[in-house]
Amino acid sequence: MKIAVMPGDGIGREVTAQAVKVLKAVVGHGRPLELVEAAIGQAGIDAAGDPLPAATSEIAQKADAILFGSAGMPGDEEIPFMMRPGASLLRLRKELGLFANFRPAFLFPELIGASTLKPEVVDGLDLMILRELTGDVYFGEPRGSGLNANGEREAFNTMRYSEPEVERIAHVAFRTARTRGRKLCSVDKANVLEVMQLWREVVTRVGKEYPDVELTHLFVDAAAMQLMRAPKQFDVIVTGNIFGDILSDAAAMLTGSIGMLPSASMAAGSFGLYEPVHGTAPDIAGKNLANPLASILSMAMMLRFSFEQAGNAGRVEGAVRRVLAEGLRTGDIFQPGCTRVGTEEMGDAVVAAL
Ligand code: NAI
Ligand code: MG
Repeated sequence: MKIAVMPGDGIGREVTAQAVKVLKAVVGHGRPLELVEAAIGQAGIDAAGDPLPAATSEIAQKADAILFGSAGMPGDEEIPFMMRPGASLLRLRKELGLFANFRPAFLFPELIGASTLKPEVVDGLDLMILRELTGDVYFGEPRGSGLNANGEREAFNTMRYSEPEVERIAHVAFRTARTRGRKLCSVDKANVLEVMQLWREVVTRVGKEYPDVELTHLFVDAAAMQLMRAPKQFDVIVTGNIFGDILSDAAAMLTGSIGMLPSASMAAGSFGLYEPVHGTAPDIAGKNLANPLASILSMAMMLRFSFEQAGNAGRVEGAVRRVLAEGLRTGDIFQPGCTRVGTEEMGDAVVAAL
């Protein structure tokens, strides 16, 4: 198991250290584990003058999977975009062809009070949002800004998907639904946008190859409403880049804390980049306050998706549940009557629970 470890900046460093500790504890027996650390973000600039140093790209190419922390620091807006610490992740995604972004929204029963929604609405919530990551309005050409014929400033972007791009993510979505509740909801805006008509047509056609998966379609506005009204109706949701960006953050918040949310970004095959959803949290960095569970749960996704170790992944998730049941809490998920712990203590507790 060759894993590139990229802690990055801020709390990325603190939480990744805990995930590595738990990884070593769960894999320990027999399976050779090779961890190669690589600098990225501000750490890459400090080490090699580039947020994504060539050496880091090379380590990534040779690895089976990447465990990523977070990158970027506020106040870097002066720097050209591609040289900003935070852009390192976008560059890496592109270099590695990571097109399928998995964002689970799973509520641990122990944290039911942390959600802003009524307990009965979120109790037992377990859904997966699959967001296409390489196309759509973020990358479509033409794009730009300038003056129009009337001399007024204007700016424009292009929403664009090709048939193979939609096919590729649709297959991943149907296969994912097969490993879960066999229900897939495709989210688009086919009533208004040609590109989304293509999306719906292609997903429907691909669906014929998966007759055992129940396919439904929703327009994105209706999907947003249903996510807040009755999120448990969903199993897997597949959608394009921009709708997925928005819906996955909204769905994530159903579960309460950003410190609990893992993610995976997959290329074709089993290669993936695994990272917590949160950023570098400069307000709490370096203080042993960050919740490492999102990073630890991302590592569990890595075991499941890249190394076919569903058993070990389940063990890690079970250990996380156990420390929550024991009442251990970092500040972001603190509830009255619980025991407040720091980043390292939380990592140690997960290892002990394993
Ligand atoms: P953020 O996720 O870093 O922080 C938002 C809030 O949540 C803060 O109050 C923070 O203290 C809290 N928080 C985040 N993670 C936590 C954890 N594990 N435990 C406890 N509390 C936690 O988002 P923000 O402040 O918008 O961005 C800060 C920097 O991170 C920016 O430079 C941004 O570009 C970068 N960023 C990087 C990402 C990545 O590497 N994938 C993703 C999001 C932001
Ligand atoms: Mg986002």
